[in-house]
Amino acid sequence: MGTLRRLVIFVLAASVLLAGCESLKSSKAIIPMKEYEKMIAGRLDANYVGTTTCLSACHFHDGIKRDFDASTMGIQLSKQSGMPLVDCESCHGPGSLAVEGLTPEKVAEDAKEGRQTACDYKTLIDIRNLPAQAKSLICLKCHTANATFNLHNWNAGPHSVNDVSCSDCHSIHKGSDLTVRLDDMEGMCESCHQDVKVQFSLPSHHPIHEKKVFCVSCHDPHGTTTEKMLRKDTVKETCSQCHAEKEGPFVFEHAELMEDCRTCHSPHGSVNNNLLNLQPPFLCLQCHSGHRTSFASSAESKGAFYTRCTDCHSQIHGSDLPSPAGRRRFTQ
Ligand code: HEC
Ligand code: HEC
Ligand code: HEC
Ligand code: HEC
Ligand code: HEC
Ligand code: HEC
Ligand code: HEC
Ligand code: HEC
Ligand code: HEC
Repeated sequence: MGTLRRLVIFVLAASVLLAGCESLKSSKAIIPMKEYEKMIAGRLDANYVGTTTCLSACHFHDGIKRDFDASTMGIQLSKQSGMPLVDCESCHGPGSLAVEGLTPEKVAEDAKEGRQTACDYKTLIDIRNLPAQAKSLICLKCHTANATFNLHNWNAGPHSVNDVSCSDCHSIHKGSDLTVRLDDMEGMCESCHQDVKVQFSLPSHHPIHEKKVFCVSCHDPHGTTTEKMLRKDTVKETCSQCHAEKEGPFVFEHAELMEDCRTCHSPHGSVNNNLLNLQPPFLCLQCHSGHRTSFASSAESKGAFYTRCTDCHSQIHGSDLPSPAGRRRFTQ
């Protein structure tokens, strides 16, 4: 192929790509979605009028607007940013009918008589009573999996499937922070997961209430390809994020057990020390028989049946050193 031809192809390809980017960057309305929203509102004759028109007549929603303007969706979105603009109607649907006849004069008149003017909000999308999936769709029209990476697995995730929607966790109008703040997270998750709350109150527990670990340290609430929405592919990898020293590989492994920490540990909390499913020796006696040994030096324990297994088998997660007898005993 001649250099010239190659160059022509390159320029063509580049301009197609650039044109594509350009159209993504403009903040044009997504036409089919807007029509769809009119259908949800049940009024095809409604139109988009813009936030200014929506809010010019009365000041009832000034607080909401102030918070929203200060949020990520508000503040970052100058026309130049190239991201889709978000305004009240992006979520609430076309507003022309709601503000029809809502003039500053009418508002003033109502105020004189001590009345609060309300817009005809029944003509907007009834967000609260939408099915959860449809509610989420309002967000997903912009937060596509491509734009928001961790939403890749949303649709198949247990939350989506069980009718939890975005706004169950993200409060849109409670302030300017739309993300879930780490401080609020535990309470938010536990409001639905009461049983989990109980587990984190057991005597041995991951320090969730102490705010040293968070639900999202181990789970991605938007859905994952793994079981229980774990952040990593396996339980072991999830735990190894923080407990790397237990990861191995060790020269002397505790068989295949270490592949799943849940064999011995309850990840949230337990009545037993060290988050153990059962208190040793019972934990160990599920799979081993106990033993006596002549190895002990103190007279009183000589020949005794040993119950504090990890006093001696202290490297229970695996060890690189053989026991003094030259075998893997996890004693050092
Ligand atoms: C990102 C989507 C989104 C945007 C943008 C948005 N809202 Fe909302 N709004 C919601 C959701 C979702 C609810 C329902 C909240 C709930 O379930 O409690 C809601 C509820 C409301 C309510 C009822 C509040 C209540 O407490 O009963 C008002 C009023 C409101 N929005 C006004 C506005 C105004 C004014 C704007 C523009 C400044 C706006 N919204 C922009 C999503 C949005
Ligand atoms: C019209 C498009 C649009 C709609 C509809 C929309 N968003 Fe957004 N949202 C954005 C843009 C753009 C940003 C800012 C850029 C970014 O952080 O990705 C943003 C930011 C956010 C953030 C903050 C991200 C951060 O890192 O601070 C959250 C959380 C969020 N949106 C949740 C929602 C929820 C929940 C809904 C539905 C109730 C929703 N959005 C509806 C466009 C939209
Ligand atoms: C079960 C609760 C829950 C649901 C449901 C949920 N989120 Fe989130 N979301 C969170 C939490 C918690 C965080 C912040 C912590 C994190 O993941 O790092 C977050 C973070 C985000 C962020 C910031 C992204 C980032 O990169 O950190 C965006 C945007 C967002 N969510 C959008 C959505 C949208 C859109 C939906 C619905 C399709 C949704 N979320 C549903 C809990 C939820
Ligand atoms: C240290 C990591 C970790 C933290 C922190 C954590 N989880 Fe988990 N969670 C897990 C693991 C691992 C499982 C799987 C347990 C199993 O299969 O027995 C799980 C299972 C679950 C389940 C499924 C319950 C079941 O019995 O199958 C829910 C719901 C859950 N977690 C919610 C939460 C919530 C809510 C928080 C925060 C308050 C949280 N988790 C914090 C690791 C964690
Ligand atoms: C609005 C209620 C609600 C909120 C808030 C909520 N969840 Fe859930 N969650 C559910 C429902 C419903 C299910 C599915 C049924 C079940 O397993 O209990 C579920 C399931 C789960 C599962 C189990 C998944 C599986 O495969 O079994 C985990 C893990 C989980 N949620 C974590 C969280 C975390 C972490 C948060 C906070 C960021 C959270 N949830 C917030 C309602 C909620
Ligand atoms: C985000 C970091 C993080 C992750 C991920 C994590 N842990 Fe922890 N783990 C901690 C912290 C912090 C402590 C408390 C240490 C302390 O208090 O000294 C702890 C303590 C423990 C303890 C001792 C509890 C006690 O009562 O002393 C065990 C056992 C444990 N984790 C097992 C696990 C297992 C199993 C997993 C995977 C399901 C896991 N951890 C995932 C941070 C983490
Ligand atoms: C065969 C059972 C077993 C398995 C499997 C197991 N543990 Fe443990 N783990 C224990 C026992 C027993 C203790 C208490 C040790 C002691 O008493 O000295 C413990 C203690 C811990 C501790 C707290 C004490 C310390 O040494 O820091 C952490 C953290 C821990 N395990 C993490 C893990 C992780 C991560 C996995 C998975 C990779 C795992 N464990 C798998 C039995 C097990
Ligand atoms: C779920 C079953 C299970 C549990 C629980 C368990 N183990 Fe094991 N353990 C095994 C298996 C399987 C092996 C490998 C045996 C083999 O290869 O001969 C092993 C190996 C060992 C060995 C090395 C044996 C040898 O022949 O070198 C010791 C020591 C040991 N375990 C101690 C413990 C102690 C102490 C506990 C309790 C903290 C415990 N195990 C809990 C299944 C278990
Ligand atoms: C006083 C220290 C001590 C205590 C306590 C102890 N062990 Fe051992 N254990 C040893 C020593 C040392 C060996 C190696 C003996 C040898 O190599 O001849 C051993 C060997 C083993 C073996 C492998 C040998 C075999 O029988 O096949 C297993 C399995 C085992 N212990 C399990 C346990 C369990 C389960 C407990 C708790 C009920 C426990 N041990 C308590 C010191 C102890």
